[in-house]
Amino acid sequence: MKTIFVTGGAGYVGSHCSKEFAAQGWNVVVYDNLSRGWRDLARWGELVEGDILDRDALQSALTAAKPDVLAHFAALTYVGESVEDPALYYRNNTLGTFNILESMRAVGVDKMIFSSTAATYGVPHQVPMPEDHPQQPINPYGWSKLMVERMMDDYARAYGLRFASLRYFNAAGASPDGEIGERHEPETHVIPLAAKGALSSDYAFTIFGDDFDTRDGTCVRDYIHVCDLGRAHAAAAKYLMDGGAAEFFNLGTGEGTTVKEIADAIEKVSGKPLPRKIGPRRAGDPAVLVASNAKAKAKLGWEPTQSSVDEIVQSAWNWAQKDAKARG
Ligand code: UFG
Repeated sequence: MKTIFVTGGAGYVGSHCSKEFAAQGWNVVVYDNLSRGWRDLARWGELVEGDILDRDALQSALTAAKPDVLAHFAALTYVGESVEDPALYYRNNTLGTFNILESMRAVGVDKMIFSSTAATYGVPHQVPMPEDHPQQPINPYGWSKLMVERMMDDYARAYGLRFASLRYFNAAGASPDGEIGERHEPETHVIPLAAKGALSSDYAFTIFGDDFDTRDGTCVRDYIHVCDLGRAHAAAAKYLMDGGAAEFFNLGTGEGTTVKEIADAIEKVSGKPLPRKIGPRRAGDPAVLVASNAKAKAKLGWEPTQSSVDEIVQSAWNWAQKDAKARG
């Protein structure tokens, strides 16, 4: 049995990917400090509690696991927080990944899947965005991830690292069986917040700007079901095991959905009106972010199969109700 070492496997995307790795026959070892992850989301394989900033602990865990592939999800992901406290992001995301790269080199692990992001591109010059779109991030979060892409590329050339850097657009939805789903503290993402608006009379869902140059004035994003991300990561692991070279891939659907359409979809699944306010634009939000996913389709043999707005929102809604009940 092949082993995959999953940093951040107790987080939102990491837990769904761990579930898919396990379903595809991988022995999963999760390494997570539980600072932003959740013990109950890390259900697949052993959970080793540790920090990627603790190089000794990381290297010991890697030595014990002897993984064939390392999948690195452990990261901080709030754009606003990265602007207020960039040191936090460069330390955790950039230095933390440097520790991972060095530990892999010391232990002799040469295959890596990295959670990258559309935030490495910055403001779009063309839509949909291909992987060779200029990368000029507009916040420290995007830079902290782009620096990692730079390091991995140099490690590939100098030390033979093989990696798949997967640039997610908007990860969304939850496992359709209701086992796990999206949980952030604090929550800032649009679908869980719209669901919260439908669930709670105390919370008013706010649309951040309705004067963008889009079909209904609200921002367009490319929402990709987290289980489609899971299958993409499993495809990337296979790609690397089969000898695939270091590559960057966008993970999205190629289709955009507006914030209003998300709010309407929540109304539809919940069967009740979603009160909504129109607020000011949020700083740094581009009008449209949509991926070209042609490269992932061609080279990973992957394509999204459950990322319709209805499937994403239905699964997110089921999870939001269950998790709200479970957490009181
Ligand atoms: N939005 C609202 N109301 C809300 C929350 C969000 O209108 O209460 C809007 C935002 O303005 C944006 C859209 O919904 O237009 C999506 O916002 P999210 O916060 O859900 O997602 P982002 O597109 O901002 O963030 C995603 C990833 C980040 C990544 C970023 C930039 O979650 O990790 O894309 O690529 F950094």
